[in-house]
Amino acid sequence: MEYRRLGQSGLLVSELGLGANNFGTRLDEARTRAVLDQALELGVTFIDTADVYGKGASETLLGRLLGPRRAQVVLATKVGMPMDDSPFERGASRRWIMQEVEASLRRLNTDYIDLYQLHEPDPGTPILETLQALEDLVRAGKVRYAGYSNFAGWQMIDADWTARTWHLVRPISAQDHYNLLARDIERELLPACRALGLGLIPYYPLESGFLTGKYRAGVIPPGARLGESRRADRVLTAENFVRLERLEGFARERGHSLLELAFGWLLSHSEVATVIASASSAEQVRQNVQAAATWRLDPSEMETVGAL
Ligand SMILES: NC(=O)c1ccc[n+]([C@@H]2O[C@H](COP(=O)([O-])OP(=O)(O)OC[C@H]3O[C@@H](n4cnc5c(N)ncnc54)[C@H](OP(=O)(O)O)[C@@H]3O)[C@@H](O)[C@H]2O)c1
Repeated sequence: MEYRRLGQSGLLVSELGLGANNFGTRLDEARTRAVLDQALELGVTFIDTADVYGKGASETLLGRLLGPRRAQVVLATKVGMPMDDSPFERGASRRWIMQEVEASLRRLNTDYIDLYQLHEPDPGTPILETLQALEDLVRAGKVRYAGYSNFAGWQMIDADWTARTWHLVRPISAQDHYNLLARDIERELLPACRALGLGLIPYYPLESGFLTGKYRAGVIPPGARLGESRRADRVLTAENFVRLERLEGFARERGHSLLELAFGWLLSHSEVATVIASASSAEQVRQNVQAAATWRLDPSEMETVGAL
């Protein structure tokens, strides 16, 4: 496993991270344990969860299963998405952040969160209020670093300007939907990350498993995620199957698998710090660790993939 700095911070994260959105939901405790143990054994140190994953279930399982290994990992969680129908239990107000961070700490069974990410922008709360709350959490030792997720470029620039003007904590990372088939962030968000020196944490790196190549037109493997997901209609499209074939061909001609291309392409971007794939078995973790370590594309390969 190789390690990278998250943005311009000193925080070291494993190139392959572990997404925990299926812990306590699609995966019960025994399967979560198998995935987590395998990942830690193979050098994964970055784990990404959120309060909202399983409405606290993912954080709770992580807290229980990590035990004394908590100090070995960089634990990232998030706040902001609705925890229930109440208008009070969501967003990025000082009130909700202060309440919810305590709940996350309790569930995670820890005194501190390494990376506390704003899960989505909250248009109803001034960014100054949010940053002041995050600053207080950093000063109190409950949070080490802050990060964005699903922000627009202009919102991160605005937040950064506010943080610098008021001498508040400057977030170090941006977590956004990015993979070989989902490249919208290249227009505006990626340049903003570059300008701010943010570390990019791409989510859905495998487009929910589609980029493993296990789905074929009209054929969904039993038990696979997209068989049960609302995202299936958006991912399993005729256009995507055509693209998939081209990408597979590109990888095959160079002696690589599609999985190696999916990870290798993301990790060939200097802005990308860690790729948070989730997994449903120890075997998938092993495949992902191997695939992520295999291939860094040269500039001409990156250009060719771009054109595909
Ligand atoms: N910030 C945000 O708004 C946001 C949004 C979404 C996700 N995330 C983060 O991103 C992480 C990853 O997202 P994701 O899990 O939805 O998407 P993903 O990483 O693109 O897809 C992971 C899924 O693909 C399948 N898979 C993984 N490795 C495989 C392998 N080697 N062979 C075959 N299948 C494999 C598994 O599902 P099956 O075995 O069931 O097919 C796995 O759950 C989440 O855990 C979460 O931490 C963040």
